[in-house]
Amino acid sequence: MMKPCTTISLCVFVFITTNLVAQNPKLTLDLTKPGVTVSRQLYGLMTEEINHSYDGGLYGELIRNRVFKDNAKTPEAWSVLQEGNSSAAIHLVAGDPDNVPMDQRGHAINSALTTCLKLVVETDGGRAGIANEGYWGIPVKPNTTYKASFYIKGLGSTPPRRRPDGSTLTPNSPVIENNTPGPITVSIESSDGKTVYASGIITLIKSNFWKKYELQLTTASDIKPTADARFVISTNRKGIYYFNLVSLFPPTYNNRANGNRIDIMKLMADMKPAFLRFPGGNFLEGPKLTDAFPWKITLGPLESRPGHKGSWGYHATDGMGLLEFLEWCEDIKMEPLLAVYAGYSLDGDHVDAGPLLKPYIEDALNEIEYITGDIHTYWGAKRAADGHPAPFKLRYVEIGNEDGFDASGSYDGRFAQFNDAIKAKYPALKCIATIGGRDFLGVRGKLTIRKPEIVDEHYYRNAWEMEEDAAHYDNYDRKGFKVFVGEWATREGAPTTNLNAALGDAAWMTGMERNSDLVILSCYAPLFVNVNKATSTAPKAWQWDSDLIGYNALTSFGSPSYYVQKIFSNYIGNKVVPLTGANIPTQTRPATKKDSADKKMPQPIPGMFYVATKDTKTGKIFLKVVNATGKPQQVDIELNGATTLSPEGTIVVIKGDKPEDTNTIDDPEKIVPVTSAVKGLGKKFTRTFDPYSVSVLQINTIK
Ligand code: AHR
Repeated sequence: MMKPCTTISLCVFVFITTNLVAQNPKLTLDLTKPGVTVSRQLYGLMTEEINHSYDGGLYGELIRNRVFKDNAKTPEAWSVLQEGNSSAAIHLVAGDPDNVPMDQRGHAINSALTTCLKLVVETDGGRAGIANEGYWGIPVKPNTTYKASFYIKGLGSTPPRRRPDGSTLTPNSPVIENNTPGPITVSIESSDGKTVYASGIITLIKSNFWKKYELQLTTASDIKPTADARFVISTNRKGIYYFNLVSLFPPTYNNRANGNRIDIMKLMADMKPAFLRFPGGNFLEGPKLTDAFPWKITLGPLESRPGHKGSWGYHATDGMGLLEFLEWCEDIKMEPLLAVYAGYSLDGDHVDAGPLLKPYIEDALNEIEYITGDIHTYWGAKRAADGHPAPFKLRYVEIGNEDGFDASGSYDGRFAQFNDAIKAKYPALKCIATIGGRDFLGVRGKLTIRKPEIVDEHYYRNAWEMEEDAAHYDNYDRKGFKVFVGEWATREGAPTTNLNAALGDAAWMTGMERNSDLVILSCYAPLFVNVNKATSTAPKAWQWDSDLIGYNALTSFGSPSYYVQKIFSNYIGNKVVPLTGANIPTQTRPATKKDSADKKMPQPIPGMFYVATKDTKTGKIFLKVVNATGKPQQVDIELNGATTLSPEGTIVVIKGDKPEDTNTIDDPEKIVPVTSAVKGLGKKFTRTFDPYSVSVLQINTIK
């Protein structure tokens, strides 16, 4: 039974309630105590081929299916062009040079480029050719020079079939196919062919062999940017033409020949990331043991890269190969964090530790030598021959990816074997284990043979879960390993995240930053998404919802989560400032079916999150405050032990009207950070933080 309410108790209740309502949230920064050191590698990037991250994404190549290996029945992304009175057809000619029917033999360029496209033009006059639709369009921009290249076989003959030792197996056949030498037109034009944006001509010469042709195509200054365009190679002469490795590159970041899209590189550079974790993720592992990231065949000229299966339902060209990953790091001053394949594949198969695992370990050691070895080492010399004599700095090697899914428990032995071999040859390298931490996507695993120095932990959650667990690392055991939060994201919004996700991210990041003596590395995932929906000729471009940076063929944009990453990484000191909060508002999520089933009421959690760091060189203090509630929060801020403070500072704010607000390809800057000057700062001041906002307040101490 309830106690009857006396006048006094009612008064006390009213007083307390009024007092609670009236009291501002308070943040007290204690500058008298030295806080923990902030890891300089705290914020990095994670990447893999998912959502058309490279092919149809960062990697500059504009021709889809350039080596004709992505085909169901017809050559994907390619079509035949027949205009005027021309009559033409295209066919795939596929197969291994030593293992195909007689009439197809000899059309492989080499053992990597084994499939080509055959164009048969039956009539003279008119216009016949091949057209490529690109990755959901070919981007056309004014005043831009594109580099086109392709192989064509002129006069065709069937060369002798050879035994492995080089001796002839079958006699050379007579010339069986022909085409007519002369001009071939190369153009970038609208999808309906009505507008030619840029074109050029190469002269096809008579040759029994594949020959590479190259030319530049430049657009005029008065065209409107569009992705509604195609790439065409055409002729008005009858004949049989074979094509392979058809390529078109726009200008690239740092003008690299096999380089990356400028806009996306700039978005990343603006984040000032410390490292790049590559090549996966699932892309490292592959669907089967034989599909792991094949780093060796991603090296050298494009002519020697066959591509491989990939892990996300499409073939990877491997134009973004091992050296390109490293140059990407170099271009935006990140350090590489290499994940090496550790003998576990996505279908659940694994290679047992022991002699069977040895070749995989050897492969990883060679890969490390390719990255770090000087030019006198075997693989270092190979890297030099590939155009990069200087070794790359490498400090972290991750052994596998998400091996907690390996139900056999074999990772304990596999990790130990990799760790020991890597440490024996490269004692300074730190090996990262993929299990062994407190939690791993709900899967727990223990390492007993070797204690890891660093453990990679992954978190994919909704905003509520992130906010509820923002203090995850506050009381984490600090006696063992360091933590790498190697994949994490608040998964709300598709294909890129919305403001609510960004609030969840920011809450989570305050916890990582506050504990960055323990959490020394972190990276959001997935980084990229091609946002194109399915068309009549191409499938939907993405496989994973809630990604950081979105793009189509023409433009790119950052999600609200991207901007949170950017401001957290850009505004950070080298020491954490101890910070306590009082009167922090709470929020309670709506009850779910599961709550009813569990007979549990959702519990209130904090509605604000915060962290402060100080740059001991400049004296700047960075106070990050997340207001996840829908109300403005007037916060009293006190800096204990502060020396002289400037009354003037700056504040960077990311906010929106409602949690669902987001950026899109058509409205890319709805939610962006806004920087403004603030006055009235001091040892004690009050500041209002907007609803649904993430703010970084910069306070300047005067020495
Ligand atoms: O980031 C998407 C996927 O999530 C990664 O490939 C995998 O490591 C994780 O399960």
